[in-house]
Amino acid sequence: MKFAPMKEILELAEERQVAYGAFVTVSFDSALAAIEAGSELNVPVIFITGNDCVALMGGFEGTVETVKRAAANATVPIALHLDHSKSFEECAQAINAGYSSVMLDGSSLPFEENIAFTKKVVDLAHPLGITVEGELGKLVGEEGDLVVKGPEAAQTDPAEAKEFVERTGVDCLAVSIGTQHGHYIAAPKLNIERLKAIHAVVDVPLVLHGGSGTPAEQVQESIRNGIRKINVATDVLTAMIDEYVAQAGAPGFKYNTAIYPKVKDAMKELIKGKMNQFRFES
Ligand code: 13P
Repeated sequence: MKFAPMKEILELAEERQVAYGAFVTVSFDSALAAIEAGSELNVPVIFITGNDCVALMGGFEGTVETVKRAAANATVPIALHLDHSKSFEECAQAINAGYSSVMLDGSSLPFEENIAFTKKVVDLAHPLGITVEGELGKLVGEEGDLVVKGPEAAQTDPAEAKEFVERTGVDCLAVSIGTQHGHYIAAPKLNIERLKAIHAVVDVPLVLHGGSGTPAEQVQESIRNGIRKINVATDVLTAMIDEYVAQAGAPGFKYNTAIYPKVKDAMKELIKGKMNQFRFES
């Protein structure tokens, strides 16, 4: 089994005017949950793994092996993507291990440095057929060690986005338009006007990070305006952890392996809901 280049999945999303979810995986059962959901709904699956997830699954080789085994009976394309990497070496390791996509997140760097760093990864990845995602603008909240407080000032600038994509050659671009990683404290309000302005000048698929908890109508409005990939991590982990807690608190609960398929199914239902939300009829 070979992972599909994420670029091809995003081209399909563009053709169909939908977005495809990019779901976190931390284990064999979380990978299986998304693969079963995608296979049942005939929706391609993108896996996002930050280096925390990679560590949980035995490094890059372990992650590749785990997801491949979970995908043994998949009937849809599957992409494996390194999320928010800040390191050229890490991107190279992921590619060598068999990843089909990497994200170099230089969004905390000055503009010119972000371009130079991202382009270096593109030059490594493209001859090997590997997709590269770049990021411009900062999500409010926490991105690794970076904490961003101001709302609009940190959002992606359309003119910079155009120049960034042209000079780096990235295959897709993560934009900041008002979402946030993790659970929202206040309800988000996506800056659709900003997204429209970016979409008008950038000709690669756009990526929305912080997909968890974002109201469906705002998500769908973003898809109408060029978002083709939506990252979802916190909602998947919440479904997983809440199901463990619910099962452990249920009458007659026994400490045995019966809990695990139930937890996998809870993640699968959550993912199916997101997949349906992202491929609505516009
Ligand atoms: P959430 O955890 O808010 O879904 O964000 C995920 C994400 O954007 C990972 O890159």
